Amino acid sequence: MRLLVMGARGMLGTDILQDWKSDEVVPADSAEADIRDLQQVRALVSKVRPNWIVLTAAYTDVDGSEKNPDLAFAVNGKGTENVARASSEFGARLFYISTDYVFDGTSTRPYETDDLTHPLNVYGSSKAAGEQAVQSFAREWCIGRTSWLFGASGPSFPEKILRASESRPELAVVSDQVGSPTFTRDLASAILQLIYAEARGLVHITNTGVCSWFEFAKVILHQAGRDSIRILPVTTAEFPRPARRPAYSVLSPASLNHYGITLRHWKEAVSVYLQDLRRVGKLS
Ligand SMILES: NC(=O)c1ccc[n+]([C@@H]2O[C@H](COP(=O)([O-])OP(=O)(O)OC[C@H]3O[C@@H](n4cnc5c(N)ncnc54)[C@H](OP(=O)(O)O)[C@@H]3O)[C@@H](O)[C@H]2O)c1
Repeated sequence: MRLLVMGARGMLGTDILQDWKSDEVVPADSAEADIRDLQQVRALVSKVRPNWIVLTAAYTDVDGSEKNPDLAFAVNGKGTENVARASSEFGARLFYISTDYVFDGTSTRPYETDDLTHPLNVYGSSKAAGEQAVQSFAREWCIGRTSWLFGASGPSFPEKILRASESRPELAVVSDQVGSPTFTRDLASAILQLIYAEARGLVHITNTGVCSWFEFAKVILHQAGRDSIRILPVTTAEFPRPARRPAYSVLSPASLNHYGITLRHWKEAVSVYLQDLRRVGKLS
């Protein structure tokens, strides 16, 4: 099987490349093809002729998207459409990575794959446009929605917390946004299993367990042996950001469990993540 990973040098893409040993995996990024340009995408896909394209490439700056909506939609909407078109033209299946931010966070139970999307911010809207493009233009597709990614090739929330704790004795972290942290190595492994299972349609892929950013930060610092740092819970209103975020973006594991896959608890994943950070010299 030949896989083309588009977004290969990003946080998730790096782990996909590291974890997949048994297949021919071809990495690509904007240097190989800017997904905003259909001709570049076509040229790459026609050269590689993959069985699957895994599209992790995206404009992922959530707050930046508010200032640059044209860029967010060009990459996440039109760019995804270009990859979807090329996938069907050259007979490749498409695995698209999407986000919990397609939901508005008003649910009182974990989101199922068939719940209505209603993004609160530009980034979420552009990823929802990407989902729509996949469904309209790809012949065979799977959309994996995930949330709160962290991995050693970050930057991600845990790394920011660890960095901040090196210079500050006290950190304020938002406690009224709830979701499921997801380790990019676990996500990479789930994507591969879903590809082997020839998964179709929408799948929600997160580590098990639910927490707020505040609880996430506490566990990171505790496991890193930094219990002396005080963490203060603050509300979203006290900590305004350019992009609105859903208060509750927990994704139900039912669609993943359907394929016999369950990811470990996010707290277990944090301990492996910290070992990875030590291995690559980002944590002493
Ligand atoms: N991070 C999260 O918390 C989170 C949560 C839920 C879902 N997701 C989704 O998960 C996926 C992976 O996220 P990530 O955090 O690993 O992303 P990331 O680290 O920001 O990497 C994004 C990748 O996309 C590539 N890219 C950007 N614009 C491109 C363009 N115009 N043409 C071709 N490639 C382009 C970048 O390559 P260059 O550097 O060469 O431009 C980079 O390799 C994304 O689809 C994201 O929407 C992320």
